[in-house]
Amino acid sequence: MRIAIVPGDGIGVDVTREAVKVLQEVSTRRALPLELVSFPWSADHYLSTGETVPAGAFEELSHGFDAVFMGAFGDPRVPDMKHAAEILLGARFQLDLYINLRPVRCLADRLCPLRAFAAKDVDFVVFRENTEGAYVGLGGNFRKGTPEEVAIQEDLATRRGVERILRAAFEQARSRSRKRLVMSDKSNAMRFVGDLWQRAFADVSAEYPDVEARHLYIDALCMQMVRDPSQFDVIVTSNMFGDIATDLGAALQGGLGMAASANIHPGRISMFEPVHGSAPKYAGTGKANPFGAILTAALLLEHLGRAPEAGAIERAVRACIEQDLCTADVGGSLTTPQAGDAVVQKLEL
Ligand code: NAD
Ligand code: IPM
Ligand code: MN
Repeated sequence: MRIAIVPGDGIGVDVTREAVKVLQEVSTRRALPLELVSFPWSADHYLSTGETVPAGAFEELSHGFDAVFMGAFGDPRVPDMKHAAEILLGARFQLDLYINLRPVRCLADRLCPLRAFAAKDVDFVVFRENTEGAYVGLGGNFRKGTPEEVAIQEDLATRRGVERILRAAFEQARSRSRKRLVMSDKSNAMRFVGDLWQRAFADVSAEYPDVEARHLYIDALCMQMVRDPSQFDVIVTSNMFGDIATDLGAALQGGLGMAASANIHPGRISMFEPVHGSAPKYAGTGKANPFGAILTAALLLEHLGRAPEAGAIERAVRACIEQDLCTADVGGSLTTPQAGDAVVQKLEL
């Protein structure tokens, strides 16, 4: 298996090192031929060479690799996020990774921030549409820098794009024991895009009579995620609402340092990244929690047909959390590399 590794910026570098450590350990102990190839695309690389990603890079990745692992992007020296737009959003859009799958699972009671709930009550998955919505970059500005300045940012939905993410989410719901799905939008205020989502949802729901499907407006969804997360099984929503809802979801898992994600187009190369960003103030300090990145590596292995190894990684992370072998954000006192080492020590393969 050939995996492209793009650590990126800030703590992306710190946590990717630990995820790679775990992948290498799995590779050695299970005689799993893993070839990890690093790519330097980052703010540093952009500032020193002027290049974000080389032309044709994604095309090459999709032919020569089985998966991509990315850390995080974002650097105060690149305020317009040009490199992140071309590397991270570039991968999502150019590889047409239309499913951003973000599991929201709490691994220990003490990580659950809600007084009346425990870890078992937080176990759902968000299907975030990943190739359209407000992220397509349609818009522009006029009279920029003057008091009459105008800016427009369009939200875009295609019938095909909405249908395919809905179908992916319904398939996921069908495969789970509870078979429950919530579609979330803002069709009461954003009528054109909302109407398309509503009609596609009605049509796709009819194909899945075995799935209990309902709708919540995005504001109500956020409220319900905090009021009672145990009601959720599969949530499907648009690109930007999914971005927001999954940071809230991360808080239900013990914080951004615990949240993993996969960017998928079934049958094609996929990209895996923790949900968190580059947290520049923590870069290189040893404070970054590597568990979200390590759990992301587990998602990668699971996606490549290595469910037993993925399960072993998750159990090792769980064991570390149970014994406080973790970073301070989740109640421990270890540094980033020590937390990675602890996972390696707990691996039962
Ligand atoms: P962030 O996720 O980087 O950090 C927000 C806060 O969450 C941090 O200050 C920290 O308290 C906590 N946190 C995040 N990850 C953590 C970890 N692994 N361990 C411990 N604590 C952690 O979000 P931000 O501060 O809004 O953004 C910083 C930069 O990252 C920005 O440039 C932003 O655009 C970018 N960003 C990138 C990605 C990505 O590459 N996927 C995702 C989100 C934000
Ligand atoms: C995420 C991030 C990105 C997004 C940013 C960095 C563009 O917040 O992966 O959640 O909004 O998708
Ligand atoms: Mn985000």
